[in-house]
Amino acid sequence: MTYNFDTVIDRSNNFSAKWSEMDKKYGSNDLLPMWVADMDFKAAPCIIDALKERLEQGIYGYTTRPDSYNQSIVNWASRRYNWNIKSDWLIFSPGVVPTISLVIQEMTSKNDKIMIQEPVYSPFNSVVKDNSRELVISPLKKLEDGSYIMDYEDIESKIEGVKFFILCNPHNPAGRVWSKDELKKLGDICLKHNVKVISDEIHSDIILKGHKHTPFASISKEFEQNTITCMAPTKTFNIAGLQMSYAIVPNEEDFKIIDSAFTRIDIRRNNSFSLVATEAAYNQGEEWLEDFLTYLEGNIDFAIKYIEENMPKLKVKKPEGTYLLWVDFSEIGLTDEELAKVLVEKGKVALNNGTSFGMGGNGYQRINLACPRSMVEEALNRIKTAITL
Ligand SMILES: Cc1ncc(COP(=O)(O)O)c(C=O)c1O
Repeated sequence: MTYNFDTVIDRSNNFSAKWSEMDKKYGSNDLLPMWVADMDFKAAPCIIDALKERLEQGIYGYTTRPDSYNQSIVNWASRRYNWNIKSDWLIFSPGVVPTISLVIQEMTSKNDKIMIQEPVYSPFNSVVKDNSRELVISPLKKLEDGSYIMDYEDIESKIEGVKFFILCNPHNPAGRVWSKDELKKLGDICLKHNVKVISDEIHSDIILKGHKHTPFASISKEFEQNTITCMAPTKTFNIAGLQMSYAIVPNEEDFKIIDSAFTRIDIRRNNSFSLVATEAAYNQGEEWLEDFLTYLEGNIDFAIKYIEENMPKLKVKKPEGTYLLWVDFSEIGLTDEELAKVLVEKGKVALNNGTSFGMGGNGYQRINLACPRSMVEEALNRIKTAITL
């Protein structure tokens, strides 16, 4: 391994939501944060070098994207997912969630139905409700072994009149990297019922061994025309604070609607730093990413072994992607409120309560494992203390 992921970095002066906003959510900052989905690792040296060079220029005026920027995204999609996209399908956005919200505002009307699958990243639920659209929830089906599949029968029974389906691919928090067959089955249902798809693929690069990311839109030309794909280098390379993402919109009509909506609110330029960081990440960051994935898999295996050996009542299934562990605490016999309380007050650890992911999240906690192994161990020790009655 070329890169070091073991160093613990003090983030107390890092103006970090993960480290400095725990008091707002948990009532104390004196906790080990394993919640917000960013990493406690430094970004790849190639990104830091590009940022330093840009910083040293000393002028941070309005930016323009060079062709090489779009090309770095096009090449990444081709190399990593075997998906040939065109640079004129790309729309800049400061974030995936803002894109989803804007698409809802521009391409649906008040009270239109939008379908999501829960449990899921909570803004999927709130962005629909906050835009006064009707939320239709198809719960994921949980199997005996703790893994999740889509419930196609349930989807079909509820899809009449739905305008958009918001897909989480790969899935946060269930850790599923949906297979091509699973996605095709879903996409065929959507096409049959005239439902457009927003595919949130922000976790598409965090794929564990033996699994492969399939961009939903890459499955067929029809899917491509029916899908708005949201991607970003921000989760992959720990640069979410630079605030950038992109939508991939092959459908010309849809492209015009979304592009003009961003132009209307004058969101069309990268900031000086996301511009160079994206290109550096996509052109030079692959070796770092491979090392990160190896280290992450080590963290995940370590955590699962620790849980099996020390907290046998917790149930956990190894994720296929994402750096998030979705753990079933229900067998320990505490209510969600009691569990949340002991984790914070006794364990001094900040996890995401399963209930915040909606339907099917009861009894679960989500643990972010994108941190040095010593922190993973410390967090697990704290969880053990918390649930030992
Ligand atoms: C599935 C998913 N989508 C979107 C986001 C946030 O994306 P952004 O910061 O670009 O809005 C996250 C962050 O955790 C996520 O897990």
